[in-house]
Amino acid sequence: MDISGKTAIVTGAASGIGLGIATALAEAGAKLVMADIQKDAVEEAAHGLSGTNKRVMPVRIDVTQEQSVLDALAEAERNFGKLHIACNNAGVPMHGTRMIDVPPRDWEFAMGVNIWGIIHGIRHFVPAILRHGEEGHVVNTASVAGFQNRRGTNQGPYSMSKYAALSLSEALEHELEGTNVGVSVPCPGPINTNIARGARNRPDHMGGPQIRANDEAVLAERLATTGLDPKTVGERVVDAIRTKNFYAFVGAVPAEIIKARHRRIEDALNSPWVTHY
Ligand SMILES: NC(=O)c1ccc[n+]([C@@H]2O[C@H](COP(=O)([O-])OP(=O)(O)OC[C@H]3O[C@@H](n4cnc5c(N)ncnc54)[C@H](O)[C@@H]3O)[C@@H](O)[C@H]2O)c1
Repeated sequence: MDISGKTAIVTGAASGIGLGIATALAEAGAKLVMADIQKDAVEEAAHGLSGTNKRVMPVRIDVTQEQSVLDALAEAERNFGKLHIACNNAGVPMHGTRMIDVPPRDWEFAMGVNIWGIIHGIRHFVPAILRHGEEGHVVNTASVAGFQNRRGTNQGPYSMSKYAALSLSEALEHELEGTNVGVSVPCPGPINTNIARGARNRPDHMGGPQIRANDEAVLAERLATTGLDPKTVGERVVDAIRTKNFYAFVGAVPAEIIKARHRRIEDALNSPWVTHY
């Protein structure tokens, strides 16, 4: 797909991977709607990008709220016309705490942003792309955590949300077969972003901002020392859109762990209890 001149919306665009995707799309000539729950930060980020492409617009969005997604879409279409590319990227971490100790509100936060954010994008951005019939693309940011659970990190709720992102994307790809709208799932390894402090952006209706200093420090240290530059993820996404690549792995991938998990599933299928259809 040719990105130049197309309109793209990127959620979570004020920071990290979203900013990396926005930067790469702007450099590829897209008209860009940068959407984020942090109003000031996204305005600043959009200002920073307007040098690479004049057509950059910041908008506040809370992806956990359907009405907020509808409002951001309306604003995008009012300013830039037809939407062609939707990057459902906003996400938050949930790490360092065993699942038996994670309170319901924290589960809801992770699912609200990481899963409902994508569901709202599918329900509203995708019909907006299909409506005009021109070529389009949907990008749902998953993670290598969507293929395996990493021992010792206690990030079960996060991983679950990324398995969901992957499953939603696979199902969406099936539903869009026969249309000219493609789907990609960026699956980054560790990336040097602000995600460790993701609970800083917990919406008020989910309890408001939260600081989890110890857990944040452990993850921040790991990402700062091993994480890739988020701009590289942006370049990977642009390449995936151009080449219609579905699984867009990028960075350090625990390939052997993923393969071992798949082998375990295949072994389990070789059972006298299993019939095939
Ligand atoms: N950093 C990594 O190592 C890594 C690896 C794989 C996947 N990811 C995924 O990449 C995506 C982006 O994360 P990041 O690492 O860039 O983190 P980040 O914290 O740097 O950026 C996330 C952005 O999302 C925004 N956001 C949070 N809640 C929101 C909401 N309710 N509505 C709208 N915007 C909201 C934040 O304000 C922030 O600007 C997430 O889906 C994350 O799970 C990150």
